[in-house]
Amino acid sequence: MEDRIVSQEADVDEESFEYSLRPQSLDQYIGQQKIKENLQIFIEAAKMRQETLDHVLLYGPPGLGKTTLAAIIANEMGVNIRTTSGPAIERPGDLAAILTSLEPGDVLFIDEIHRLHRSIEEVLYPAMEDFCLDIVIGKGSTARSVRLDLPPFTLVGATTRVGLLTAPLRDRFGVLGRLEYYHENELSQIVTRTANILEIEIDESASIEIARRSRGTPRIANRLLKRVRDFAQVLKLDKITYELAVHALERLQVDKLGLDHIDHKLLLGIMEKFHGGPVGIDTISAMIGEESNTIEDVYEPYLLQIGFIKRTPRGRMVTDLVYKHFNMEVPKR
Ligand SMILES: Nc1ncnc2c1ncn2[C@@H]1O[C@H](COP(=O)(O)OP(=O)(O)OP(=O)(O)O)[C@@H](O)[C@H]1O
Ligand SMILES: [Mg+2]
Repeated sequence: MEDRIVSQEADVDEESFEYSLRPQSLDQYIGQQKIKENLQIFIEAAKMRQETLDHVLLYGPPGLGKTTLAAIIANEMGVNIRTTSGPAIERPGDLAAILTSLEPGDVLFIDEIHRLHRSIEEVLYPAMEDFCLDIVIGKGSTARSVRLDLPPFTLVGATTRVGLLTAPLRDRFGVLGRLEYYHENELSQIVTRTANILEIEIDESASIEIARRSRGTPRIANRLLKRVRDFAQVLKLDKITYELAVHALERLQVDKLGLDHIDHKLLLGIMEKFHGGPVGIDTISAMIGEESNTIEDVYEPYLLQIGFIKRTPRGRMVTDLVYKHFNMEVPKR
């Protein structure tokens, strides 16, 4: 799979850039109104009762702000955050070691929590429910189980694949937060905020243009802004204007809806070779030379989201919107 500037996933070298842009408080966190309002209330209530916050599960597509929100929760509660991830915890003992080292009230953030091994999940159940750990001491006939008390903590889990979570684990979260794709005006506020941090001036119309091409995703918005800023620098401009943004984004081959050359290849291929479909996923896979899994997990979601592709029992079809997007005549079907 090639690198795409419009990829929802983080690049390997993007971490420190993203870290520097993370909002620190709920107030600075733009959009996601519903989750934000709920969290505000739960956090305030927990603080008033001097209790730990209920366990929180954050789910939704990559780049929408789950990790950011986990850190904000810890900040707002005024506690430390311990970060780990499903694949990083290999043995039940690894998790036990983390749990016993927490301070009362701490947030334990487990990213990609759907990838936790089942045997480790079982350690988590009593920990989440009763703040205790059941450990087995000794072997064979002398083995016995001991209960160990843990400091009260808040588990914040994040996942892009909530469907893969087991029911017993999901049920142990008191707060479920589904992150939604962002609206254009929210993304444009994020772009403006980021430009501020990067100390580059930007016109509002330019922020809006970048937002429009960011596929509803803050990660992409920030990445596009960073690349547009490069153009400003090379062209020795001290401000990002609308014209510059459009020029840069065209050069980067990100079109008005945030589609890149791979989206174009996929859509135009279905239109030109298969009269707009329906066409099977394996045929599309052969046509563009990508695995069908990659097409389903990476390329299709945004196209489905904006209504450019429809899934039918006989395969994928492009919709009339696509013909209009490419200024082509809609065929009679
Ligand atoms: N609501 C927001 N306001 C401002 N910036 C945001 C917001 N949400 C996300 N961002 C920015 O977008 C970037 C990606 O966010 P984050 O890493 O939290 O996403 P994620 O959901 O954890 O992604 P992944 O599923 O890949 O782990 C960060 O740099 C963050 O600063
Ligand atoms: Mg994350």
